[in-house]
Amino acid sequence: MIKKVGILANGGDVPGFNAVIRAIVRTAEQNGVECYGYLDGFNGLLHNNKVRLDHQPIASGILHKGGSIIGSSLNSNVFNYKVIEDGNVVYKDLSEQCVQNMKNDGIDCLFTLGGDSTQKSARDFTLRGVNVIGVPKTIDNDVACTEKTFGFDTAVAVATDALDRLHTTAESHNRIMVLEVMGRYAGWIALEAAIAGGADAVLIPEIPYDIEKVADKVRERQKEGKNFSIIVVSEGAFPKGGSMSVKNTREGGSGVINIQLGGAGEIVAKQLEEKTGLISRNTTLGYLQRGGTPTSTDRILSTEYGAKAMDLALEGKFSVLTVLKNGKLDYVPLEDVVGNNKKIGAVGGGTKESNTKVVKMDDDLIKTARNIGICLGD
Ligand code: F6P
Repeated sequence: MIKKVGILANGGDVPGFNAVIRAIVRTAEQNGVECYGYLDGFNGLLHNNKVRLDHQPIASGILHKGGSIIGSSLNSNVFNYKVIEDGNVVYKDLSEQCVQNMKNDGIDCLFTLGGDSTQKSARDFTLRGVNVIGVPKTIDNDVACTEKTFGFDTAVAVATDALDRLHTTAESHNRIMVLEVMGRYAGWIALEAAIAGGADAVLIPEIPYDIEKVADKVRERQKEGKNFSIIVVSEGAFPKGGSMSVKNTREGGSGVINIQLGGAGEIVAKQLEEKTGLISRNTTLGYLQRGGTPTSTDRILSTEYGAKAMDLALEGKFSVLTVLKNGKLDYVPLEDVVGNNKKIGAVGGGTKESNTKVVKMDDDLIKTARNIGICLGD
């Protein structure tokens, strides 16, 4: 019987964090379970910085709110945590401190709301004997073993709205409008937004592009009398034989160098202008995709995931991730989610080594895009 649970939100924020927290807390309260929220992700767990999450007043009135009422942290892999010792940067495994904090407070289960990096740490905690249940988050929709992560639908809605707006200005000025959207190793946001927003081309990390093919598409439209085009570019898209557009590198808490992407859209816009003679402009959608109120679809999915996670805890099913499989709520072992990234703490996530769910070439979305004449740059 579980009596007390901890919740943490980790990684880049997404709309829907609060909806998951609310659903866990509500389901918990109906079953006499006390909830605590660790502040700022794994940092809160490490420093035992937490708040009691009662339905009233804390976890109430938050369903529609973006962000996370308990914060969220980036670069906080407690299995390989950056500390300064005698003026030197060293990386330490501080996970035992977290385990002790939970033991001392009688936390029976930890809910980890996050992406692949977070779920990697979640799985590593299960190997330290902690009861963990993961909930898949990220606007990129690239967590393995689930059809949908919470936050993704909102990002696609924001990108689609942006495309609608770019369409009218592109048409008025006979321009090429490029929209750069998020999607580091997976092009889900770009692909769905391109289909929903009626784009002419979409470039995703899974298909290294040939700019000449995209220029051909624009020229083809010009021949039809359409002197404007709409191009969606994933931040992780890169040309054949080339590499991703890196804006910055930063040292992450996992000891891995994290890469901050940026500039892919600018490159495409500049090259298309040179090749077609049409004025081209890039808009980088950036963090607008991650902020603000969740769509109704995300509110529902987040609520389902949160309630399911608490249900699983009540049933004593730990070391799992709540997932959507064939459109139905389900769960899978965290071991499957990390794939071959098995070594404790070695590689956090959000990297090439992690088990990210990328777009496969036989995906229905790819087929649909091709069927309706969207150029994929190949
Ligand atoms: O993981 C989600 C994501 O939105 C990626 O698509 C993007 O590369 C990254 O976050 C950027 O976030 P930040 O700059 O906050 O690390």
